[in-house]
Amino acid sequence: MRSAQKLIAPLLAEAGCLATGAGARGYVAPARWAARAAEEVTAVENAHRAPSGVMEVPSRLLMGPGPANAHPRILAAQSLPLLGHMHPPFLKIMDDISEGLRYTLQTKSKYTLMVSGTGHAGMEAAIANLVEPGDKVVVGNAGIWGERVGILSRRYQADVVEIKVPAGQTFSYETLKATLLEHKPAVLFLCQGESSTGTHQSLAGLGDLCRQTGTLLLVDTVCSLGGVPLFADAWGVDCIYSGSQKCLSGPPGAAPFFLSERAMEKLQKRKTPPATYNLDMNLIGDYWGWFGKRSYHHTGPVSTFYAMREALALVAEEGLESMWARHQELHNRLWDGLRGMGLKPFVEKDEDRLITVNTIKVPEGVDWAALVKHAMDTYSLEIAGGLGPTAGKVWRVGIMGYNAKPQNVELVLTAFKDGLKRQGKL
Ligand SMILES: Cc1ncc(COP(=O)(O)O)c(C=O)c1O
Repeated sequence: MRSAQKLIAPLLAEAGCLATGAGARGYVAPARWAARAAEEVTAVENAHRAPSGVMEVPSRLLMGPGPANAHPRILAAQSLPLLGHMHPPFLKIMDDISEGLRYTLQTKSKYTLMVSGTGHAGMEAAIANLVEPGDKVVVGNAGIWGERVGILSRRYQADVVEIKVPAGQTFSYETLKATLLEHKPAVLFLCQGESSTGTHQSLAGLGDLCRQTGTLLLVDTVCSLGGVPLFADAWGVDCIYSGSQKCLSGPPGAAPFFLSERAMEKLQKRKTPPATYNLDMNLIGDYWGWFGKRSYHHTGPVSTFYAMREALALVAEEGLESMWARHQELHNRLWDGLRGMGLKPFVEKDEDRLITVNTIKVPEGVDWAALVKHAMDTYSLEIAGGLGPTAGKVWRVGIMGYNAKPQNVELVLTAFKDGLKRQGKL
């Protein structure tokens, strides 16, 4: 300690912080540093004094599985002046978000909000709130998201029944019906748009089935919300989580979330509170005004919620039907071009194919990573490789939200053409 004091003595003296005179005992923390009396104030270590300077980031066209590029209007909304997280004008913005989500999810439910966090926070909120220890949860595992929900559910002490399909396939109604009738689970999880394999899970008829078996239907729509049809009420879905950074054209960091009346009933009748305070929907719902008042639970990420208000305004202005049609049209355009180069979809059946995240089979003898690198080096364009069960087998091209535009699809096609030519495959 003495040597440290010796070291900083000249600095402190220069700054007029050294106690002098008969009563001086050495160094005292200057009043402007709020150290407590017994706390030793030594020289600040500057070895890691970074970063500094105004940040710059390269411009990239993000045509992988997400995030997609955010709409400029959304980015502009994010830089508006902060409001307090309980100020009435901010609470009004939260109400606008809840209403925008009702439209986007096609529900009349009171229980819509944004979880402060990414899609995973929505996922964990769903499981933590809907599942009580010992509850049976049937998890449809069609890729990494089902696998992850299985892991998460076990952590919340669910009795998990995992059903699996080979990568690139979806669950048939018959399989799901038989599983529901056999297990009568508390929750059935399905991922509408499985971004690791590029599949689109049908939800047809499942809401009715789940009502017969006393099951809550939980759906991941992170990669599909805004890109493909979803009707929460009409299809009998009980809980949905999503992400801001894909078809909704926002930055990552907020997870659209919805509960049906049935799901809320289960939440309110729980024998034990959810094992998470941070994601307890009774408490978060109270911040969002679900129960008629507003209580502080956490500081809502103010700028992120501005972004989501603007994202949902863009959805409402364009209209869901137009958004779905735009995504479909650009998916078709992508595949017209890819097929013209001899490339094939990883997902065999047309109806199983997700239009927002497209999985393209890597042909025999092609170096997929070299093509990805070339696209980035030449065009600042992100095309992704596979993930989980598709690693090394596919490229993934996202056509989502603000990025779902003809010129972006054309650039992707150019990058594929180039990339294949460089490897002598075209
Ligand atoms: C289908 C799906 N579910 C969940 C997630 C997780 O979302 P996040 O990365 O925002 O936590 C993703 C992310 O890509 C996803 O594609």
